[in-house]
Amino acid sequence: MAEDFKRPDHERLVWRGVVEEYRSFLPVDENTPVITLGEGRTPLIYAPELSSLKSADVYLKYEGGNPTGSFKDRGMTLAISKAAEEGSQTVVCASTGNTSASAAAYAAKAGMTCAVLIPEGYIALGKLAQALIYGAKVMQVKGNFDQALQIVRELGEHSSKITVVNSINPYRIEGQKTGAFEIVDTLGVVPDYHFIPVGNAGNITAYWKGYKEYLKRGITASAPKMMGFQAAGAAPIVLGHVVEHPETVATAIRIGNPASWENAMQARDESGGAISSVTDGEILEAYRFLAAKESVFCEPASAASVAGLLKTEVKRGSVVVCVLTGHGLKDPDAAISQISVPEAVDATYDAICRELGV
Ligand code: F0G
Repeated sequence: MAEDFKRPDHERLVWRGVVEEYRSFLPVDENTPVITLGEGRTPLIYAPELSSLKSADVYLKYEGGNPTGSFKDRGMTLAISKAAEEGSQTVVCASTGNTSASAAAYAAKAGMTCAVLIPEGYIALGKLAQALIYGAKVMQVKGNFDQALQIVRELGEHSSKITVVNSINPYRIEGQKTGAFEIVDTLGVVPDYHFIPVGNAGNITAYWKGYKEYLKRGITASAPKMMGFQAAGAAPIVLGHVVEHPETVATAIRIGNPASWENAMQARDESGGAISSVTDGEILEAYRFLAAKESVFCEPASAASVAGLLKTEVKRGSVVVCVLTGHGLKDPDAAISQISVPEAVDATYDAICRELGV
């Protein structure tokens, strides 16, 4: 058997991170020190159950496969690389959790100080643990994400020494657009629909930019309809007004005044897509469905894309991609709240057999 084994082609297996792999699409040159953790090349998983339910080919772009467990790493590699190029020593962000985890990791890699503002009591445990263990200065703000972002904007305006790494930093969007490139490169075709959760609206903006750039360079001949989903209790774009007190179980998208509001509406309108809302109940149903039926464990906010797909009519036979933005282990409390934790059993063979009914 041994002689039948062909070693993997390591040349092909080497992935240098999204900045190197998509360099010609990004604002970098020989002066940019590339700070990377090998982000990107995340799995695009075929979803047979969803495909059969929707009579379409449905794929899940699992961004939980990034180094810090969310899509934020795609933009953070570029934002931190550019901050390093500009000589910045300190970066700051407001975050519902994932941005802070990613910023903390890339800043540590670059030897920078990282400060993060997070809404007290509304950040998933895994994300808080990450920001702390990577060594960020974590400030729990007695307010929500929108208030924290406002303070961060002011910090950026008043101090030239501090670089803001929220998605108001254009390099974040530039890096995140590589998700669209990967989908097209992996599928070999352009999806007909792209389903995505919407919070601060940076990611829908970034994906649309990516699809449009492939189109413009003649790499593709079409672009998908962008289908964004906000949580019903935090759906300013759907409602057409700021939500003062956003509420949702999907804490990652608990945002009432998205920074990229206009760009998200542009993505929707240019692509012929839609931005709608899904209830917490629908989000949690999709969250459980994904784990139980497709064996993909994402965080609740990520499941908003699939919750959206489940209630949207798509053209028969179409190719659909749903972005799952973050890993399920980010928010262990959300998972535990959806199941009943089993009672302890005696450590005997008989007790286990009784439990198993054998
Ligand atoms: N899904 C997850 C898991 C997120 O963490 C976020 C945003 C989104 C979706 C929405 O993406 O903001 O680009 O529309 N998280 C930000 C953060 C706000 O601070 O981690 P968006």
